[in-house]
Amino acid sequence: MSSSPSSPPATNLPASDPEAAALAAAVCRRRNFAIISHPDAGKTTLTEKLLLYGGAIQQAGAVKAKGEQRKVTSDWMELEKQRGISITSTVLQFDYAGSTVNLLDTPGHQDFSEDTYRTLAAADNAVMLVDAAKGLEPQTRKLFEVCRMRRIPIFTFINKMDRPGRDPLELTDEIEQELGLACWPVNWPIGSGDRFRGVIDRRTKDLLLFERAERGRQSLERRLAPGDPQCRTVVESDLLEQALEELELLDGAGAELDLDRVHAGELSPVFFGSAMTNFGVRPFLDAFLELAQRPMARESREGPVDPLRPEFSGFVFKLQANMDPRHRDRVAFVRVCSGRFAKDMSVRHARSGRTIRLSRPQKLFGQDREVVEDAYPGDVIGLNNPGMFAIGDTLYTGTRVEYEGIPCFSPEIFAWLRNPNPSAFKNFRKGVNELREEGAVQVLYDTDPSKRDPILAAVGQLQLEVVQYRLENEYGVTSRLEPLEFSVARWVSGGWPALERVGRLFNCKTVRDAWDRPVLLFRNDWNLHQLQEDHPELELQGVAPVVSGVEPIAL
Ligand code: G4P
Repeated sequence: MSSSPSSPPATNLPASDPEAAALAAAVCRRRNFAIISHPDAGKTTLTEKLLLYGGAIQQAGAVKAKGEQRKVTSDWMELEKQRGISITSTVLQFDYAGSTVNLLDTPGHQDFSEDTYRTLAAADNAVMLVDAAKGLEPQTRKLFEVCRMRRIPIFTFINKMDRPGRDPLELTDEIEQELGLACWPVNWPIGSGDRFRGVIDRRTKDLLLFERAERGRQSLERRLAPGDPQCRTVVESDLLEQALEELELLDGAGAELDLDRVHAGELSPVFFGSAMTNFGVRPFLDAFLELAQRPMARESREGPVDPLRPEFSGFVFKLQANMDPRHRDRVAFVRVCSGRFAKDMSVRHARSGRTIRLSRPQKLFGQDREVVEDAYPGDVIGLNNPGMFAIGDTLYTGTRVEYEGIPCFSPEIFAWLRNPNPSAFKNFRKGVNELREEGAVQVLYDTDPSKRDPILAAVGQLQLEVVQYRLENEYGVTSRLEPLEFSVARWVSGGWPALERVGRLFNCKTVRDAWDRPVLLFRNDWNLHQLQEDHPELELQGVAPVVSGVEPIAL
């Protein structure tokens, strides 16, 4: 291994400074990650098991609705229950074996991938969860690309080994070939399906034998040293021989577990297990905490910011309104990037230049909230949002820092949102503005000022349904969707003047976004290509450029 993950970060601060020492120790302890997967790969189950090991929950089934057990998930979202899907993200923190772990939970449904993209902006590591029978699936590939773009270290957990699955060599090969991500199996399975007997730890060659436990309980783990005669009696020799041969093959291939490559997102440590039956979850967690990247320096407009910078800084990566309908509040989730955050701290809001006192920062665990006294790099805090925070905003103390914003993703579905009841306009407007601010949906407007209704722009259809549902439940307004026949949006570089220079355009509709920038909507890629051929001088962007220092226009 090329570097030690547990050694304290290099610091020039004097050891006699107790605050600096506390900050360095806190950064060293922290590991933060998000799970990326396709729906049904077992993300909820794995999350639940990780929380069990972390002692954060007492019983499996608490994370996801399982009959009457639903306790931890925020049940503010009735729709989530009705549709049986996980829409909202929650941040979960737990202590385990001397580490403080922050798990940024991401919604698994593909329609909510926008939310997931934003959560990945706050993650230092990603766990790619793969169903052993299915291998790579579309949503996993899409999210992997985001991780790759951001060079996030990826740890692979191949799940459902208790069920008949694909050959493990074939699975790692698929990851290497299709994603161009080198694999380094940290453990290797012995058998699969009914004959799954456990895993061999590649570094120690110990056998970890697992016995199926009662559902939801931690499985009994037995570790046998490689020379232990029991190995041959408890595991069928054909299975053991095969696993050892395959391991030899892997070792023969020569690659080593190079932590620098892991942290650069080029090499993925791979683990095999079964979240449901608890096979391999604890070894995964132990190795993950050893190998994962701790909170690192982040890029800002002023250059990289070290987490050990003594002054606090962080950015908003998610906004959520009405998490608790009893309080009708709005929460901004902030990822701490440097320094120590303390309750009642006064911070500068980079976009507006205003100073604000953060008097009730919260840690959220599903529906439970707890006021936090302090937080460190890698942590996520929930702040009451009086309508001031937008996604990508930076908060800081000391010298000015502004983190690079989080881009929106190119919408593919568009619809007019009609308000059939003019007397409810005020609430309609409030709801649309707040949901846009939260990033639940992108909002566009017609260039004709007499057409006041907003155009919703989303990545997936369900996003639109959620907006309608929430408008009704949280703002008391019914609305009507009128689909528009467009599937491609492009932002115009150079804004309105650039558009005016090219004159009249055909086969596209010009609208404006919430920052009054021109956006062209096309029915299909063919129309887009046609326009690009006709006007090569027009520069178009698929993703809305990040705005800074400008307030959006409201409906
Ligand atoms: P998701 O959040 O990624 O969508 O997946 P989730 O954890 O809900 O798991 C999807 C299904 O896969 C669940 O079954 C779950 O029990 C099952 N599962 C997860 N991990 C494993 C595993 O390691 N082995 C096996 N055999 N199954 C696994 P379900 O029938 O949809 O729900 P349930 O009735 O089991 O809760």
